[in-house]
Amino acid sequence: MSHHASSTLTVPDAGDVPRHVAIIMDGNGRWATTRRLPRVAGHSKGVEAVRAIVEACVLRGVEYLTLFAFSSENWRRPPDEVSLLMRLFIVALEREVAQLRANGIRLKIVGDLSAFEPRLQTLIRNAEHRTAQNTKMTLTVCANYGGRWDILQATRAMLEARPDLAADPSRIDETDLAPHLAMRHAPEPDLFIRTGGEQRISNFMLWQLAYSELYFTDAFWPDFGAAELDRAFESYRARERRFGRTSAQVATPAELPGP
Ligand code: IPE
Ligand code: IPE
Ligand code: MG
Repeated sequence: MSHHASSTLTVPDAGDVPRHVAIIMDGNGRWATTRRLPRVAGHSKGVEAVRAIVEACVLRGVEYLTLFAFSSENWRRPPDEVSLLMRLFIVALEREVAQLRANGIRLKIVGDLSAFEPRLQTLIRNAEHRTAQNTKMTLTVCANYGGRWDILQATRAMLEARPDLAADPSRIDETDLAPHLAMRHAPEPDLFIRTGGEQRISNFMLWQLAYSELYFTDAFWPDFGAAELDRAFESYRARERRFGRTSAQVATPAELPGP
């Protein structure tokens, strides 16, 4: 069950360091192409960048880091690239889990995992299990994930658990749906980052990004390191998160009137 505050129902607390950072890791292919390397070289380099950002986030006190690794639309890529991405994912899981475990990081893999080969599904379950007790930071990797998939699967799960709601849909509210979302273990992202220059959401966390601060950088993912992360955090610190209120209300928070 989720006990995280909803940004549309209450005004969340916000500190200088984002509690939850969600990243679309884009630009691996172009990083490689500009170096006359095959796209796969960019994906390999991208795995190294993940390692560095995980470490940097832990050091800065981030509690939740969520990374978009493979979208429900990425199956449209050439079969060779898709199978290479799967292989990289398998190798990364095999190699990194011990380190995550030792560093106190809880790993979650979120998405429609039924599409993956059985060996990968087993690896995922084991990796989650082996890190489940960790509390320093939660690293969520979104694989075969789509924001629309999540809202639809949550709706189905909600109606299965509560068939009475189907008979009276006017009673359905956010708090009925939220506990069934794939990201229910995390609060909503404070900061969203997309590397690679595109300014779009590409079916990432559609529900949870409602009030996230958005940050876009031209840096390709393999070039995104701790210095780039600090630039994003600096931008985040300068934002005024109003959640629907006026600036004056943010300056002197008082009782919130209802709608
Ligand atoms: C992001 O990099 C990684 C995945 C989507 C798996 P891309 O592979 O999309 O890189 P570009 O956008 O083609 O440069
Ligand atoms: C988004 O990147 C998905 C991931 C980073 C996993 P894409 O490169 O697939 O996004 P589009 O197709 O350019 O929107
Ligand atoms: Mg891309």
